[in-house]
Amino acid sequence: MKTARNLDHLPPYLFAQIDAKRDALVSQGIDVISLGIGDPDIPTPEHIVEAMAQAIRNPANHRYPDYAGSKDYRQACAGWMQRRFGVELDPATEVLALIGSKEGIAHIQTAFVNPGDYVLAPSIGYPVYSGGATLMHAQTYFMPMRAENGFLAEFDTVPGEILAQAKILFIGYPNNPTGAIATPEYFDAAIAFCKEHDLLLVHDNAYSELGFDGYVAPSILERPGAKEVAIEMFSLSKTYNMTGWRIAFACGNPTAIKALGTVKNNLDSGQFGAIQEAAIVAMESSQDCVAQMCVLYQRRRDLVLDALHAIGIECEAPKATIYVWVKIPEGYTSASFAEKVLTEAHVIVTPGSGYGPDGEGFIRISLTTPDELLLEAVRRIKETMAK
Ligand code: MLT
Repeated sequence: MKTARNLDHLPPYLFAQIDAKRDALVSQGIDVISLGIGDPDIPTPEHIVEAMAQAIRNPANHRYPDYAGSKDYRQACAGWMQRRFGVELDPATEVLALIGSKEGIAHIQTAFVNPGDYVLAPSIGYPVYSGGATLMHAQTYFMPMRAENGFLAEFDTVPGEILAQAKILFIGYPNNPTGAIATPEYFDAAIAFCKEHDLLLVHDNAYSELGFDGYVAPSILERPGAKEVAIEMFSLSKTYNMTGWRIAFACGNPTAIKALGTVKNNLDSGQFGAIQEAAIVAMESSQDCVAQMCVLYQRRRDLVLDALHAIGIECEAPKATIYVWVKIPEGYTSASFAEKVLTEAHVIVTPGSGYGPDGEGFIRISLTTPDELLLEAVRRIKETMAK
């Protein structure tokens, strides 16, 4: 049996590969601490779980949901965007429910990309930007991202011949994995660039709510003219500790939302209605639980930075996200450092090279592990490096 050629070009999914390594060690009875995937360790807030418990008993939710998301869900998303960012959206045409933003990021490529086209992805970015392109028999052009430029993807360096075949430009700030944030001027330049080159701009805003030191992240849709070229992906996963629920939404340019909806209604039948109801409660009730998560992650961030500092590893304090992006010591590649830390310290960190070419030389530490385990992990890394 011969599988499609595009699968041969698809690298193993970064986190599936890391999980497999972890499982192999755990099955040998080894106590592994994972600072790998960004998967909140704190449960979904009780009021959201309770809303789900009620919604699941409603027989109306046992039938097929609306393909695009229920009217109430899309209205709640639009209301949240209005309250949070002052962005006005028509829930009927400018909002679409997603089964997690990961599927939206992959499927928007089915809607816009033809075989042989280019997708412009940050050279350090969520692996699904390029994986989605490969699944479409398309190519990825990695836009440079450098520390000295604040890890802002340098779209203005993309060669003309690539641009002529490009369909989508992906960016995401607050950035996974670097924790970098973008200025309004950067967003304006990206919007102007996409208008000039007839590109769909997809802004991945999965970490908008997790800001530190008073930082409040914007939506790209706040910027003038954004809706003419951009859609934004929001996820409830990290904001409300709902990674397992698979609930998110895309919003913005109505042509792109319609096209993504067309792909999806041919591929899936929408997200379970009860999950949408719980998500409405998440977005419409008090946001204190989100503020508490910011306090928790900021504390963990500082704890990790202090511990790394104590062992001679310096890194910038991110203003947002749930990650710390760390330059590795001389003499290692990202993969060899991550491998050493895994096999000798039994700590999982994510090799930066898994996020694209400019990620080489870095690892990512996720803050979604209890404080005492985070500290124990850094202690183990220190011990390993001292050997
Ligand atoms: C991450 O660790 O980058 C994310 O949690 C992975 C994901 O959202 O799929």
